[in-house]
Amino acid sequence: MSFGAGNPADSASSSPAVSASPSSTGRGIALVGCGSALPAASISNAALSERIETSDDWIRSRTGIGARRVAGPGETITTLATAAATAALEHAGWSPEQVDLILLATSSPDDLFGTAPRVQAAIGAHRAVAFDLTAACSGFLFSLITAAQYIRSGAFERVLVIGADQLSRWIDWDDRRTCVLFGDGAGAVAMQAVPQPQDGLLAFRMRSDGSRNACLTLAQTETHRPLIGSLSAQVGGFAPIHMNGQEVYKFAVREVPAVLADLLEATGIAADQLNWLLLHQANQRILDAVANRFAVPQERVLSNLSSYGNTSAATIPLMLDEALRDGRVRPGHLIASSGFGAGLSWGGALLRWSGPQS
Ligand code: UT7
Repeated sequence: MSFGAGNPADSASSSPAVSASPSSTGRGIALVGCGSALPAASISNAALSERIETSDDWIRSRTGIGARRVAGPGETITTLATAAATAALEHAGWSPEQVDLILLATSSPDDLFGTAPRVQAAIGAHRAVAFDLTAACSGFLFSLITAAQYIRSGAFERVLVIGADQLSRWIDWDDRRTCVLFGDGAGAVAMQAVPQPQDGLLAFRMRSDGSRNACLTLAQTETHRPLIGSLSAQVGGFAPIHMNGQEVYKFAVREVPAVLADLLEATGIAADQLNWLLLHQANQRILDAVANRFAVPQERVLSNLSSYGNTSAATIPLMLDEALRDGRVRPGHLIASSGFGAGLSWGGALLRWSGPQS
């Protein structure tokens, strides 16, 4: 078992030492349940090309995306996250009262004060503390790693980690460079304490580089309104998503392989021992580049980009849920995962899927 974290200045060789014993409490984590939820409406590339100057051929060949789901009236982060969490609870065989902590990774909350408490109330997890965590497309992985620390420390026994985003709220639907990429959705994973020898989080890395923040933003607008005399107050509101696609692409194909190589080296696990590569779903070309770097065959690379596009914090649990339900991912499978995106932020984790505990 091993773990570690560091900042982007670390090279692989100067990364924090890999601990042989991450938990002084003798606790590990097990991934025991998963669920997901999607809005009903699907918008195809062909339908989008009726609205903006684009084509199915351009979108598919540059990204692998064929369609995306977009939340309609009555569908929100709360409803999607609640449905995903409920499915994860059922899969794990937990009652809502057993949940100690709900971590909701989202960058598009229903309420800037936090959406997780709404989900807590909706699923009836009355004992749980619930809060949001914002790290864009790295949000789910960062939340899973955060949850693992609470479990390993002995603070909490059972945690629901949810990734949910509704970026359709914040897209400029006339900007063809971004509007074709994103979709809405939610996914959730149930994690519980197990004895350390069964730990399902074999290693992780987390990185941030705020000096490259401008590459991908959903930033406050800077409008002020007069208040009293010479004083003014800022008016709340966000500008639509802005992305320098080429820079983010270069960042992803450089940093994701680096972080995964670091994890494999630190744990002594060979790439051919991995059952699955489960990466943030942003672009099929990124998935292919990372797979090629580690000579992972296509059939072991999980992708649902063609159906859902980039659902931000939701992509990893959404993809995991699909692969669990169709029987591809099975108990004991070893998964290399990486989240990456705005911040800039990125990270990786080597995970073992446990499945429901009897
Ligand atoms: O989840 C967070 C992480 N995000 C990512 O990882 C995204 C990383 N970036 C990418 O996936 C790619 O950079 C994109 C898919 C966003 C763009 O692909 P690209 O190959 O980098 O295209 P580009 O931005 O260099 O644009 C090439 C051309 C441009 O035309 P000109 O200036 O060469 O005449 C664009 O205007 O393609 C044009 N273009 C489009 N054409 C048709 C851009 N978007 C579209 C579009 N349809 N939707």
